[in-house]
Amino acid sequence: MADSSEDGPRREREWVDPPERFAEAANVTAADREAFERAGWPGCWERAAEMLAWDDPYDAVYDDAGTVRWFPGGRLNAAYNCVDRHVEAGRGEEVAIRWEGKLDETRTHTYRELAEEVNAFAAALRELGVGEGDVVTLYLPMLPELPIAMLACARIGAPHSVVFAGFSADALATRLDGADSGFLVTADGYYRRGTALDLKRRADNACASVDHAVEQVVVNRLGDERPAGDGRAYADLVADHEGAAVEPASRDATDLLFLIYTSGTTGEPTLVRHTTGGYLAHVAWTSHAVLDLGPDDTHWCSADVGWITGHSYAVYGPLALGATTVLYEGTPDHPETDRIWRIIERNDVDVFYTAPASIRAFMKWGEEHPERHDLSSLRLLGSVGEPIDETAWHWYRDHVGDGECPVVDTWWQTETGGIVLSTLPGVDRMRPGAVGKSLPGIEAAVVGPGGERLPAGESGRLVLTRPWPGMARSLCEASDWGARRTRTVDGEWRYDTGDNAVRDEDGYLHLLGRADDVLTLSGRRLSTTEIESTIVGVEGVAEAAVVVGSDDARRESEIHAFVSPEANVAGDGALRERVRAAVAETIGTVAVPDVVTFAPSLPKTRSGKVVRRYLAAIANGEDLGDTSALRNPEVVGELESLLDR
Ligand code: PRX
Repeated sequence: MADSSEDGPRREREWVDPPERFAEAANVTAADREAFERAGWPGCWERAAEMLAWDDPYDAVYDDAGTVRWFPGGRLNAAYNCVDRHVEAGRGEEVAIRWEGKLDETRTHTYRELAEEVNAFAAALRELGVGEGDVVTLYLPMLPELPIAMLACARIGAPHSVVFAGFSADALATRLDGADSGFLVTADGYYRRGTALDLKRRADNACASVDHAVEQVVVNRLGDERPAGDGRAYADLVADHEGAAVEPASRDATDLLFLIYTSGTTGEPTLVRHTTGGYLAHVAWTSHAVLDLGPDDTHWCSADVGWITGHSYAVYGPLALGATTVLYEGTPDHPETDRIWRIIERNDVDVFYTAPASIRAFMKWGEEHPERHDLSSLRLLGSVGEPIDETAWHWYRDHVGDGECPVVDTWWQTETGGIVLSTLPGVDRMRPGAVGKSLPGIEAAVVGPGGERLPAGESGRLVLTRPWPGMARSLCEASDWGARRTRTVDGEWRYDTGDNAVRDEDGYLHLLGRADDVLTLSGRRLSTTEIESTIVGVEGVAEAAVVVGSDDARRESEIHAFVSPEANVAGDGALRERVRAAVAETIGTVAVPDVVTFAPSLPKTRSGKVVRRYLAAIANGEDLGDTSALRNPEVVGELESLLDR
């Protein structure tokens, strides 16, 4: 129930209690939270590790002899944990994956079927020469073969590196090179809005431009014929190895489970590496505690498996718990804007986890769509990827959750591996617009420029002050504030998240966006440098800066590029199209600017650095405040009058 103060509703003070019916049956109760906290850090994290099956028990929960290690000495296999143990427990006929393709096409894999295909493909990978420790790149659309290939890699101890299928050949080549990966699993193509797109040509172009040889496996999605070009057919390989039993590789808890690229502090694609034991324990525990999942649940995390959200909460978390995970190949508004609600209804989804950008799109399409469907299977709603504003929060709860489902706003990053800030849905009161406190076992603070802890109401940098199991391996290795963003301040370990935040008087954190030059859009981080350098590479462009803007009328986040053409070059429609085409070609359609504004120059500091903060304010129609620190303050006025819409 929402509180109101005497002078009317005070939005910033609003509390919403967890619904009683939910709280009574929640995985984590107030007593569980207390017990977790009483166990103290780091011992409390043993509860997460206990959710997994270990080949060899760990010697300690945590140690730090220069390098942080979670569950040192422990050995386990992630695929065994996500597949075999559920079959061994007699749950082989339960559904692991429900896949929805274009229109009414569906596929389901029981845990037994998943085990068979993972084993067959693991055997095939071995035959192709993939050894323990070899990186296998997966450039696949949202097909069941993507999690199957991830689990097959995990089974043989080969770290996977999933590259989002919307990325271009160049972006794939950079990632194949960076991970020194000699194996690629891709597909002939995929469907987007009913249209077949060619993925294989991009894969071939990427392989042709890397220095080392790349062995390809190709999933046939588009037709009956064998795909053209290099590579072995996935279906043939799986058929050849039908019935294979591949012993799961016993991996050290600190061994790599996978690599994934994200945009780091410098805005460039950065390789993030995750461990087997710490990561899996973290995502299993948070799937249980925050997403409230259990073996009887059907979970739909709508993020693409190509991003960390899909790794953690569409694949490893739900499967570690023996739940059913829903994968959807298409876009939310194809063929109709009610597709999402049809999928929830048809699959009896219990928990739905999506991004605020999607929620804003659903709002725009209208509440009549969710209302036309029976969504009563839903028990919990989650949000991830960017701050969820109060209007969207309430809309989500009222029109999707029928006012009955708690909404968890979950904050985390590629580097954290899993959720670190959120409310616990059966225990904590919710505050729309605030993410909540840190989870038990996680400690967060808001600090000023000198690292000092700031009081409530003052905004500063969000830091985590203790290590956590899902932390990326680069953060585990010795402290260095630089690229790894960890250091010690007065004896206290710190990880700089790169986000700004403010704590309210009740201790709830409100996220204020990123402080570095990285865009966050629809729950994914894109590199400003990568996009800007592509635009600057277009003939006739002198300078470019990109920011995330939002169009109030459309209620959507969008990529906004400010481009300054060379002297005597017209900033016209033709140049705009060349800019867009270059980004699509070099990075992928995911990064194409929605808005391109041409400007004679960009706002700069006296030292010549482009100040994106002002550009973001312009793109969002916000007040610019004091611009006197700029060398060319007049340009912001010009820019405001030039907006391309
Ligand atoms: O700025 C924060 C934003 O997304 C960034 C992490 O992006 P990425 O590594 O791509 O991981 C996406 C999966 C979580 C963060 O630094 N972010 C994520 N969740 C939230 C958020 N901002 C506000 N509220 C959130 N719940």
